[in-house]
Amino acid sequence: MKIVTTIDELRRERRALKGRVAFVPTMGFLHEGHRELMRRGREAADHLVVSIFVNPRQFEPGADLDAYPRDPEGDRAVCEAEGCELLYMPDRDEMYPRGYTTVVAVGELGENLCGSRRPGHFEGVTTVVAKLFHQVSPDVAVFGQKDRQQLAIVRRMVRDLDFPIEIVGVPTVREPDGLALSSRNRYLTDDERARAVWLSRGLVAAHQAYSAGERGSEALVEVAREVVAGAGGDIDYVECVDPDTLRPFEETAGPAAVMALAVRIGSARLIDNLRLDEPLPEELRR
Ligand code: PAJ
Repeated sequence: MKIVTTIDELRRERRALKGRVAFVPTMGFLHEGHRELMRRGREAADHLVVSIFVNPRQFEPGADLDAYPRDPEGDRAVCEAEGCELLYMPDRDEMYPRGYTTVVAVGELGENLCGSRRPGHFEGVTTVVAKLFHQVSPDVAVFGQKDRQQLAIVRRMVRDLDFPIEIVGVPTVREPDGLALSSRNRYLTDDERARAVWLSRGLVAAHQAYSAGERGSEALVEVAREVVAGAGGDIDYVECVDPDTLRPFEETAGPAAVMALAVRIGSARLIDNLRLDEPLPEELRR
């Protein structure tokens, strides 16, 4: 595996890769969710490129940027083990040189859910993902459904700005008790970790209600919210939204619906979501 840190080196190594290239952008502290993305990337192409960059532009001022967990040694080993051929660890000053001003505006898809609670976050994501796409120039890029809004926004950007890149979405990888894997889970104390199980249980409760025929969006949200309250966290939002527009249903949930939530437990802000109209994933059937 080659490790590169400059755009020049990256481009040189990228040109040497013949055939289809899959790309998995990450912020590091890699876990089984990231590994699943890498495996899907390898299946979809001849070569795998991974990036690790803790993107300052997607953290709000004063947020957890400096505290964001890092493990460069462990990450390298994970990438190597998953068959990554080119690991790109860009330099912050090359990514955003002095005087940097250009951004990719997100528009409507960035207005709901996490967008309204984390101003500037998704603009930071689209800006860095657009830059990484230009630098790596992959044929396929792989993203997780855990960050469903991010996935939707990236898909939209690729269509709107004509990136010749196929976007693959990968189902959320979970702990045995249902908690979605996240680099941020490491902020949880043992007690908080135990309580975090109520997030996915809330989604499952809404799924059961939807399967039983409930279509009132407020009723579905209430079902989830009551269970999620068991986590004892600070609920940022629990919303029932359209999977395409991510807009909350006003009264009645549609034939396709997503329950999405964000909850602060201790110092971690955790997000999760579930399609209510699709079969419950195996890991959530316990
Ligand atoms: P990061 O949080 O490191 O996540 C990198 C990718 O891994 C994202 O596509 C995310 O959706 C996916 N992922 C995280 N946890 C997952 C899980 N439990 N199951 C499946 N996939 C999971 O998302 C980012 O970084 C950044 O915003 C980035 C896209 C790299 C831009 O900076």
